[in-house]
Amino acid sequence: MPDKIDLRRQNSINSEFLQHHGRFEYPPSPSTPNGIKRFRRQESQNYFAGEYEPEHYADDKQQQPQKLVFFNMDPTKLSHKIADINLAELGRKALSMAEAEMPGVMQLRKVFGPKKILKGVRLAGCLHVTAQTGVMIETLRELGAEIQWSCCNPLSTQDHVAAALVKAGISIYAWKGETMDEKLWCIDQTIFFPDGQPLNAILDDGCNLTKVIHEKYSHLTSVIHGCSEETTAGITKLRILLRDRKLKVPVINVNDSVTKSKFDNYYGCGESLIDGIKRATDVMIGGKVVVLIGYGNVGKGCAKSLSGLGARIIVTEIDPICALQAAMDGYQVTTMAEARKLGQIFVTATGSTGLIRGEHILEMRDMAILCNIGSGQTEIDVVWLKENAVKIENVKPQVDIYHLSNGRAIILPADGRVINLSCAHGNPSLVMSNSFSNQILAQIELFTKRGEYSIGIHTLPKTLDEQVAMAHLEYLGVKLEKITEAQSVYTDTDSDDSSGIALTTQSTSLIETSTSTNQTSFIPSFQTKRLPINPDAVAPDGSLVRTLLTTIGGSMAQFELPPRMTSHAVEHRTVYEIWYFLSGQGEFWRKQNEREEIVIVDADICITIPVGTQFQFRTIGQKSLVAVAITMPPWPGDSEVIPREGIWNASLINIGNSSMKLRHSIYLFMIFVTFLIVKMF
Ligand SMILES: NC(=O)c1ccc[n+]([C@@H]2O[C@H](COP(=O)([O-])OP(=O)(O)OC[C@H]3O[C@@H](n4cnc5c(N)ncnc54)[C@H](O)[C@@H]3O)[C@@H](O)[C@H]2O)c1
Repeated sequence: MPDKIDLRRQNSINSEFLQHHGRFEYPPSPSTPNGIKRFRRQESQNYFAGEYEPEHYADDKQQQPQKLVFFNMDPTKLSHKIADINLAELGRKALSMAEAEMPGVMQLRKVFGPKKILKGVRLAGCLHVTAQTGVMIETLRELGAEIQWSCCNPLSTQDHVAAALVKAGISIYAWKGETMDEKLWCIDQTIFFPDGQPLNAILDDGCNLTKVIHEKYSHLTSVIHGCSEETTAGITKLRILLRDRKLKVPVINVNDSVTKSKFDNYYGCGESLIDGIKRATDVMIGGKVVVLIGYGNVGKGCAKSLSGLGARIIVTEIDPICALQAAMDGYQVTTMAEARKLGQIFVTATGSTGLIRGEHILEMRDMAILCNIGSGQTEIDVVWLKENAVKIENVKPQVDIYHLSNGRAIILPADGRVINLSCAHGNPSLVMSNSFSNQILAQIELFTKRGEYSIGIHTLPKTLDEQVAMAHLEYLGVKLEKITEAQSVYTDTDSDDSSGIALTTQSTSLIETSTSTNQTSFIPSFQTKRLPINPDAVAPDGSLVRTLLTTIGGSMAQFELPPRMTSHAVEHRTVYEIWYFLSGQGEFWRKQNEREEIVIVDADICITIPVGTQFQFRTIGQKSLVAVAITMPPWPGDSEVIPREGIWNASLINIGNSSMKLRHSIYLFMIFVTFLIVKMF
């Protein structure tokens, strides 16, 4: 039983903490374990990514990186690296059981497998190697993708599953109990494929692989058509990259598909938290005071199952709405300063950092259990614990007791990492089928529409979410009510037959069904509308909008820019538009990558605005410039717009930041002033 700190582990903690704060810090060479030194040598002979030279490679002077490499054929590359291939038979049984509970993923395998829709994809994945992930990996391969995989958490790999996947010919680089060095080595192995070609797609959890690509192999981002990210914590990191203008690939945010975050995070974590606590500690939950830090999707699901077992729950929150929800759900809501003395079990579920710190731990009851189900190793200050414990007692794999100088002890499962995946088997197959159906759809979307998604963070359309839900309803024997014609008219809702857009073998392509205007399997009811006399809104570009009709694939509206006005320059994140000008005259500027042009627009001119195009327009002469535009898919809301600099000074200021009503009033006032000026001269 170790009674002093394991240096390797401490290094890995620092790395992950810094990583969370925006950069990777590779552990210094002296602490590199012997096993990895061998890998280092092997890597340094084949590593020439010139932009980056981590400390790992710095001691190998003759092998200094010299040029950017887009092709790296390495005859010594290992085809896989796992714990024990002899576990394959056991792993295959786990995969078969998971398949039976993953109807959405299996349906995608059935629909898209024969089409080999992902043929040409070289996918590098970095996500927990569990049975559910295994089913997704084998499905992606069945769809035609070449795959290399590492694990995002050093403790979550299920070694028997990894063995079964390797036996089936898939390149897995992961084993339970990796050090941080080994985890990074594993990620590195997934960058170049055996034929020397680099990855062209990423499937990530926690932004682990995406950050390595951006910091160490940024020259390869030009060949990557997209990345799909699994979790809240990863999206937070990607948003920081995006904000700092460092993001270089289009991302699909799988986490925010409703069938992911309201299911996996809520129902999945609710069940697997209990599983993790029980396997780690065997503790009775009924009657215990549980302090739940964070009442988002994960927190709410955990509260529900903990209270179902009779726990008495105290919630801490920083978000007033979530705090109010917790209070109305019947829980006590207070601060950590108060809760730290009361809790017997603490659960962090935030995706943030430093939630349980030294000052809290010192005040806790003897044998309090500290669990994390949120992100990485950042939520509990494990570094503080290691530095301040007088003795660390390992009671069983992944469970340590920290004895403190105040005479009390703290139980820490999973070294502060996510308890459900480290001490139990993660979220159950059925709920992961939702999440991974979204992942597969995201990969199909990014590949089949490569070049069409702009660099940014996108979400899948709602219709795909509905299809994922549909695929699981049947398995659960749920029958869906159908909206009547009268209800459709009363609620102004399309009376489509939702069952017609389920993941059936009849649908030629899921993506076509949801986002193209060619809605072969969807027939909306008739709609009729006259152009409104007054504008409904002011568009983020500054033009006056009169909305027309919306259907599943697109929406139509009329735009009007009054005389002598110049719009704001903007770019759309996800929608395409086609504009047809009805009257007036103006100039229209569009820029995409290197291509830039200004065209004269007037009656009967039609133009396109693809995703990722910056555009701005202005009127010429005394008449308003009027156009009808089709937006595909339908306009998702003002967050769709990215303000750009443009080439002309816009007529209004601060449009992008004002509320819609205020903008509208300012705008109408300015039009009035313009009108008076025109009249005066
Ligand atoms: N272990 C798993 O299997 C698993 C599965 C899904 C998600 N996650 C992770 O769980 C975390 C939470 O996910 P989510 O979907 O619930 O996110 P969320 O954004 O819905 O909820 C997080 C909540 O934490 C609260 N919070 C933030 N800082 C806080 C603080 N200092 N004190 C108290 N509350 C605070 C926020 O206000 C928010 O309500 C993320 O890191 C996510 O990646 C883990």
